[in-house]
Amino acid sequence: CGIVGYIGLNDTKEILLKGLEKLEYRGYDSAGIAVINEKGVHVFKEKGRIVDLRDAVDFDVLANTGIGHTRWATHGVPSTTNSHPHQSASGRFTLVHNGVIENYEILKNEYLQDVPFTSETDTEVIVQLIELFAGEGLTTEEAFRKTLKLLKGSYALGLLDEQNTETIFVAKNKSPLLVGLGDSFNVVASDAMAMLQVTDQYVELMDKEIVLVTKEDVTIKNLNGEVITRAPYTAELDASDIEKGTYPHYMLKEIDEQPLVMRKIIQKYQNDQGELTIDQEIIDAMNDADRIYIIAAGTSYHAGLVGKQFIEKMAKIPVEVHISSEFGYNMPLLSEKPLFIFITQSGETADSRAVLVQVKEMGYKSITITNVQGSTLSREADHTLLLHAGPEIAVASTKAYTAQIAVLAILAEVTAKSRGIELDFDLIHELGMIANAMEVLCDEKEEFESIAREFLTVTRNAFFIGRGIDYYVGLEGALKLKEISYIQAEGFAGGELKHGTIALIEEGTPIIAIATQESVNLGIRGNVKEVTARGANPCIISMKGLESEGDTFIIPEVHELLTPLISVLPLQLISYYAALHRDCDVDKPRNLAKSVTVE
Ligand code: G6P
Repeated sequence: CGIVGYIGLNDTKEILLKGLEKLEYRGYDSAGIAVINEKGVHVFKEKGRIVDLRDAVDFDVLANTGIGHTRWATHGVPSTTNSHPHQSASGRFTLVHNGVIENYEILKNEYLQDVPFTSETDTEVIVQLIELFAGEGLTTEEAFRKTLKLLKGSYALGLLDEQNTETIFVAKNKSPLLVGLGDSFNVVASDAMAMLQVTDQYVELMDKEIVLVTKEDVTIKNLNGEVITRAPYTAELDASDIEKGTYPHYMLKEIDEQPLVMRKIIQKYQNDQGELTIDQEIIDAMNDADRIYIIAAGTSYHAGLVGKQFIEKMAKIPVEVHISSEFGYNMPLLSEKPLFIFITQSGETADSRAVLVQVKEMGYKSITITNVQGSTLSREADHTLLLHAGPEIAVASTKAYTAQIAVLAILAEVTAKSRGIELDFDLIHELGMIANAMEVLCDEKEEFESIAREFLTVTRNAFFIGRGIDYYVGLEGALKLKEISYIQAEGFAGGELKHGTIALIEEGTPIIAIATQESVNLGIRGNVKEVTARGANPCIISMKGLESEGDTFIIPEVHELLTPLISVLPLQLISYYAALHRDCDVDKPRNLAKSVTVE
């Protein structure tokens, strides 16, 4: 799920391993590096974590050129054999790959019938093809280009040739990849964070480009071999942002950062007159649309559901929210003037990007709401709104979710005002109150730890219920819990549980109910009674002013439209402690990747 490369004057192993450690947050199940010196290529790989890979590396091998990889299994189980780098049959070429090659079996049958394969991966087909074409007399660059022209699918590639210790060959299509520039060294990385330790100067790569990286030069070419020039940019990341400091886990640090992020967003989206402001072109695009389509995956999808409420209630524009992986082949009948909003923390999710490519081809306008400036979806959409949340490292998204909701609220407010719609509240003030309320909740960690202990230590499942906007928060609460604690958790609209799922309620089944909306308070409390009568153990999180006797936790009162920004915090913290109590790897849950760059 991540690639690094280094070519320069220093020994490369430690730089590659440090880079891979910085990519750990993206999720992976095996890792490897290959370094090249005058004695040849040396490959070290291991299933498991980077610490396991460290044990497998021979630190006596010195080399100035190398590539590294973390793998999130798509073709072939996680194993040392299937992990990258992969080598061609003779061992001349060594390759790391992110992405999925869709036609690898066709290529294997057509070109590589007689070649012995050692792994089950699509990647090995690429490296064997390069060797085949090089064997036919092509230079490495030519063989690489010829191979790339045959590939269908996504790839970010780093290639070493045993006969050339002075070059890393790089290429990308759909999967993210950057080249970083240094003084007498250059690097390759899936994201700038990986190599921030050595440089903050990066060059973006576009699809179907190949790059020859030496320690002095970076030469970008298209697949026809024509040279392309592109200026570098400075990655505006603070190295300290990606350290955990005294926190035991990134997730806890990121939960605690939420008040800060709220204040930063208020500041970033405010003009000199103290009003919320958004680029006029974006507001024009909103006003030109007769319907907005929000496209997202995972947590970002849940933020989109809340965003729909904001845009419809404040700006009065109809909104549909769709899961990106479904939208491509199951597109609804579109309105006449649709506007697409992509919500993606990473800006790299392949499912969402595929939809963006599709709707661009159809000629529609798009906005990306993302945390990562310069990310693929941000570059490719017409407009970008940034989250300003700072890097989110824990796989389970927390501060990005609340930042997405805050930015969506601002977008809705500024659009509403531009349409002459007067709102009966001051969003800047309300968001400030939210930041304060978040601080109060972050100080209640012991309380959430004991709630997690009481409700979630021995259970195998848990249900989250809410009505209206609370239902959407319940979906996010359930996702958090299952992602990191592996408790089977589902979110339901309060009234829906009785239409089937209530059959699963047993003595002690935890039901986490969210009650922040006056208009449905009686309704959700009725649902709690229904499940309690059948043995459920209810954990009720209500908002001040709506509380009833026996509620488990009462959150501070905030504007009723903005409650998701507050009610999600207890759910994040309860999930965190539930995972801790179950000895789970909170920041790197099994099978998950932070940014899923395959469809
Ligand atoms: C992955 C992560 C989720 C995340 C989703 C969408 O599946 O594990 O936590 O919500 O991708 O990511 P995005 O970067 O597009 O928001």
